[in-house]
Amino acid sequence: METHATFQKSTQVEAPVLELIGKRKSRRAYADRSVSQGTIDSLFEAARWAPSSNNEQPWFYIYATKEQPELWNKLFEAVNPWNQLWAKEAPLLVLALARKTFHKNGKINQSARYDLGAANAFLSLQATEMGLNVHQMGGFYPEKAKELLNISDEYEPVVMMAIGYLGSEDQLPPELKARENAPRERHTREAFVMNKGF
Ligand SMILES: Cc1cc2nc3c(=O)[nH]c(=O)nc-3n(C[C@H](O)[C@H](O)[C@H](O)COP(=O)(O)O)c2cc1C
Repeated sequence: METHATFQKSTQVEAPVLELIGKRKSRRAYADRSVSQGTIDSLFEAARWAPSSNNEQPWFYIYATKEQPELWNKLFEAVNPWNQLWAKEAPLLVLALARKTFHKNGKINQSARYDLGAANAFLSLQATEMGLNVHQMGGFYPEKAKELLNISDEYEPVVMMAIGYLGSEDQLPPELKARENAPRERHTREAFVMNKGF
């Protein structure tokens, strides 16, 4: 098998894409501005229209705004300390869960996490369109989330999301401040797209 000798990186968008895709970025500074229920509804509506294997729609979400401190704190408690440093300012926290089995026959749904990822991508682009920042976090404790939120083994907490309007990078600790405005970087297309077999 041929391996790719070079994993070149670039910060440029190198072929035309939707403006939203170019704009989306996982930032960490949140403004002190709440997210309205109507806006929250639109985010989950976007997730709702994602494709899924067998149209199972195995995505589930537990969300809380800062106006619901008890629930928000439970979500926040499940975030790891490093992410807590900045996620503490997020007006909206969302735990994204995958249902592990198919409703119709109880068999393992191998696509559950894949489908949840698609739903989260839809949600993220909808959020970008609405002027919101979404920052996904794998850095959280799934077992703690399950315990705090009474989640059964049927569901897997996969990712936490901090969502809100953009604040100033000056709010952030120095080590995070520099990253906030750093350009996004990606492998070039040639590194991962092939028009031939490996
Ligand atoms: C599944 C997943 C888990 C992530 N976990 C974290 C995390 O725990 N903490 C963090 O600061 N960023 C996290 N990120 C954000 C990524 O670091 C970020 O998406 C990546 O660096 C690309 O940057 P961009 O989203 O701004 O394009 C996560 C992203 C995804 C999709």
